[in-house]
Parts: sequence; C-alpha cells; structure tokens
Amino acid sequence: MIVCIGAGPGDVGYLTQRGAELIRSADMVAGFNAVLNVVRSLIPEAAEIVTMGYRDQVDKLAQVAQAHHAGKRCVVVFMGDIHFSGFQYLERVERACGHPVESLPGISSAQILASRAKVCFDETTFITFHRRGDLDPFKRHLIHVLQDERNAIVIPCPWDAARSFMPRHIAAYLLENGISPEHPTEVWENLTRTEAEWHGTLAECVARDFTDMSIMLIRTRRPMPSQIEAPESR
Ligand SMILES: C[S@@+](CC[C@H](N)C(=O)[O-])C[C@H]1O[C@@H](n2cnc3c(N)ncnc32)[C@H](O)[C@@H]1O
Repeated sequence: MIVCIGAGPGDVGYLTQRGAELIRSADMVAGFNAVLNVVRSLIPEAAEIVTMGYRDQVDKLAQVAQAHHAGKRCVVVFMGDIHFSGFQYLERVERACGHPVESLPGISSAQILASRAKVCFDETTFITFHRRGDLDPFKRHLIHVLQDERNAIVIPCPWDAARSFMPRHIAAYLLENGISPEHPTEVWENLTRTEAEWHGTLAECVARDFTDMSIMLIRTRRPMPSQIEAPESR
C-alpha cells in the first residue's frame, strides 16, 4: 500500500483526520524534512522514516517503492495540498512505483491565504512558479488573469538566482508588461506558524524581499461581485 498525503500548510492541527490515521498506521513515512517535521509527532516509533531532498529524491523514492512492493504500508507526505504545486512530485512517486498511486488532499497554503485575506475562490485564479520546466506560459497566464479582472494567488519560485521568481520579480515582470502598478498586493509568510503579512501595491512590492515560505495575492482593481451589494429587493 502506498498513499500520498497532503500534510497541510505547516501546523499539524491543519492535517486531516484521515491523513493522521494513515500516518499513525504506516510502516514507512517519506518526504522532505520540512514536511516530515509537520507530522513527526504522529509517526509510530517502529516506522521507518525516509528523508529526502531535491538532489536524492529519485533514489529515495525508489527505496519507498521497493518497500511498497514488498507489502509495507507507505505514506509520502506533501506540503499543503498535493493538487496545488505538488503534481511534479506526485509524478515522481508514480514513476518510482510504476503505477498510479492513491492521494489524499490536504489544506493548501492557498486556502489559508484565501481565508485570511477574505477572497472568494470563484473570482480567483491559482498559479504556481514553484515548478520545473518553462515558466513563460505561466507568466503569460498571470498577465491574462489580471487583464480579465480576476484575483491571482501566486506561489513564487525561490530557487537559484537564474530561476528565482519571487514577489519582487513577479511585480516587476507584471509592470513591464503593462499591468497597473496600483493593484492591491499582499504577501503572506509562514501561514499557520509564525505568520507575517505585508499589504501594499504592485509598485511597492518591487522593492520588497520575502522568505521562501511566502505566498502572494494580487487583487483585481474592480470590486468583486461578492463586494457589490445586491439591489434592494423589488
Ligand atoms: C512546492 S510549493 C507547495 C505548495 C503546497 N502544495 C500547498 O498547497 O500549499 C511550496 C511553496 O508553497 C508556499 N507555501 C507553502 N506553505 C506555505 C505557508 N504555510 N505559508 C506561506 N507559503 C507557503 C511557499 O511559497 C513554498 O515555497
């Protein structure tokens, strides 16, 4: 048995009950150290813990797949929800196993942000730059989202200088491409843990630095349908 579990945004209190049950009954729990730390208190003493990083993940997942094929109950933990900015890792798990694997959703950092900032999913588009491969189609999509007067919840890319696309770079890119500097913009860090929030405009964001554990909200400039009062009943 193998199942991929969304561990939630950082505080174990946001892990689903089903996720906690699966971890408590696992023979092997695998993941990146920061995510394993979220669920560590639930891992049984007898269970094997497989910690991996960006460089050795393929080898470590091969070890997990071998345990799974030998009949062990294996759990791979993902940050937040698997279905937002987690699919490339899920694909690596499936490649290691040689077949599709079961997944259990978790609470995403995007959901916590939507709740803190009071934005409605229906009026918001979710984009991640925290992914391998060509980011250009995602950058262009973000421009269209704002031109279409929708909110954008954006996960930045914190990698090396050549690839880094943090809030300041995202803001600069949008301004260069004709998006209004007046868009209300927020950056939230370490949600459900030490939480910090910044509120300003896209223009002000160009000069700000944020940690890797940050998520960005760029609001549309037009009032959202949810903010417009319904006409008096006739
Ligand atoms: C690979 S993505 C995974 C996102 C995850 N699947 C989710 O649903 O939240 C990792 C990035 O998500 C953002 N992130 C994850 N948890 C966060 C939190 N608690 N607070 C702020 N940003 C967070 C950070 O930008 C982090 O570098």
